[in-house]
Amino acid sequence: MTSATAPGEHAGEAIVDWYATAARDLPWRAPGVDAWAVLVSEVMLQQTPVARVEPVWREWMARWPRPADLAATPPGEVIRAWGKLGYPRRALRLREAAIALTERHGGVVPADVAALEALPGVGTYTARAVACFGHGQRQPVVDTNVRRVVARLVHGRAEAGNARASDLADITALAPEDDDRAVRFSVAVMELGALVCVAGTPRCGACPVRDRCAWRLAGSPAHDGPPRRVQKFAGTDRQVRGRLLDVLRAAHEPVDAAALEAAWDDAAQRSRCLGSLLTDGLVEQTEDGLFRLPA
Ligand code: ADE
Repeated sequence: MTSATAPGEHAGEAIVDWYATAARDLPWRAPGVDAWAVLVSEVMLQQTPVARVEPVWREWMARWPRPADLAATPPGEVIRAWGKLGYPRRALRLREAAIALTERHGGVVPADVAALEALPGVGTYTARAVACFGHGQRQPVVDTNVRRVVARLVHGRAEAGNARASDLADITALAPEDDDRAVRFSVAVMELGALVCVAGTPRCGACPVRDRCAWRLAGSPAHDGPPRRVQKFAGTDRQVRGRLLDVLRAAHEPVDAAALEAAWDDAAQRSRCLGSLLTDGLVEQTEDGLFRLPA
């Protein structure tokens, strides 16, 4: 018998201990933050960095402390308050979720994963994050950062590749026995992926599980799959949609097509993007042909 540490062994416990010393102090992690505040934070954080989310999340929580408060707000105001977080359909989905919570759940965020997944804009990740961080449940909470940690620590691969059905089981197998520690593990492993086990060149010198990481034990082999896609922004429809919404957010009266011309020179792209914003319900046209955020 040898007593060598197997890849991944007790890694969950070590990651929880590391979190106690290394975690960022983020407002949605404070004790007493309720499940509604967690839901809003998770939707905002899905595609936007922490530093940009923090001030907007604080504003939202001050303005709409309960789902019913957001549910009673016109969509245009919600889009305006979304500011420049990007992917603004998330704002509309959050408002729809708030309406569903108010109408079907007595204005509270349920703890049941299936009930959470039935809410607009809430998928596998968000439902489990809310059940775990908002309701203290042991749940596998798997985002991109967590999948990368699992790929390296458990499977010895440099990068995660596409999401797989086995991701949830892999992370469940690493979680500590104790329920409170399992809840902390879910945020700790996310934090490890965000701060240490980062994409590209990880900071293995700072890693609490470097001695049992399958990827390190295999000699840190290079990524052998297709290159990771880095999302472009400049010149994309996403940028143009953002510019058009900037004009409408700043205007407190409906604007004409000429006002939108200033947002982007290429007329064909501008018109396509305006069309898609109308289709998505992010912009509406008045009877006299002007444009505004939806009333
Ligand atoms: N804490 C809890 N969930 C988080 C997330 N999605 N991103 C950063 N910090 C978090």
